Amino acid sequence: MTEQHSYTGIKAVKFTIPKLQKLKNAGQKFAVLTAYDHSLAAAINNAGTEVILVGDSLGMTIQGHNSTLPVTLDDMVYHTKNVISGAPNSLIMVDMPFATYANITDAVQTAAALMRAGAEIVKLEGRDWIIPIIAKLTEQGIAACAHFGLTPQFVHQFGGYKVQGRDKSDAEQMVKNAIAAQEAGAKMILLECVPTPLAKQITEAVTIPVIGIGAGKYTDAQVLVIQDILGLTAQPARFAKNYLEQAGSIQKAIAAFGTEVRDGSYPQPQHSFEN
Ligand code: KIV
Repeated sequence: MTEQHSYTGIKAVKFTIPKLQKLKNAGQKFAVLTAYDHSLAAAINNAGTEVILVGDSLGMTIQGHNSTLPVTLDDMVYHTKNVISGAPNSLIMVDMPFATYANITDAVQTAAALMRAGAEIVKLEGRDWIIPIIAKLTEQGIAACAHFGLTPQFVHQFGGYKVQGRDKSDAEQMVKNAIAAQEAGAKMILLECVPTPLAKQITEAVTIPVIGIGAGKYTDAQVLVIQDILGLTAQPARFAKNYLEQAGSIQKAIAAFGTEVRDGSYPQPQHSFEN
């Protein structure tokens, strides 16, 4: 583990993939928040948040689209550079944008551009077809997080932002995909909007950290979109929680999210899909 000095002069830990793996091994939970700019990234970093996700959700939160599909690789590179300047301690995860990793060559080029901008791990959405891509990225020294369940880049195939894995065969396939992703070298898995029992099964079936959003309380980590915890989302999803209301400041809201994730008090059943 490396130590660095934060803005406050307090010695702060640099969160790395091996450090987060140790948290999973020890049964300790960690927090992930999205950020797309320097100031919020600094606030999230300075609260000791383990991971910052430069999510392609910026297509909605920053650009005002109704999906992540218009987000380009240039957009992701731009926002990654803005985030890393404020966040020396959090692990920086960055989304591979829509249709930029349809084959292995494109995937390596996309991931390399994100890594050059400051990504420490890239996240890709999909199903079994992302497994050989993860294997190639791993071979090339690029850490990958496999995103399963509600993968927003597939919104039109799903017919909306709907819970995935309710069907028995879909659930079985998701478990197989998670195990295959780990075997291909994935360093983390992210599950979005899947029933709590399925997320629990996957979290127990793999040894790498599993991050959840709308996936119940058993995953190793929880991620939320920063606008959701600050009450800025017009129609928040079931899993969103406004921490600003009670905390009174952005810094305290971010800290409260981290505390509740680590002590297991977030998420509650009302933030999850029990079946
Ligand atoms: O793009 C994003 O912010 C995400 C999270 C919602 C998991 O992928």
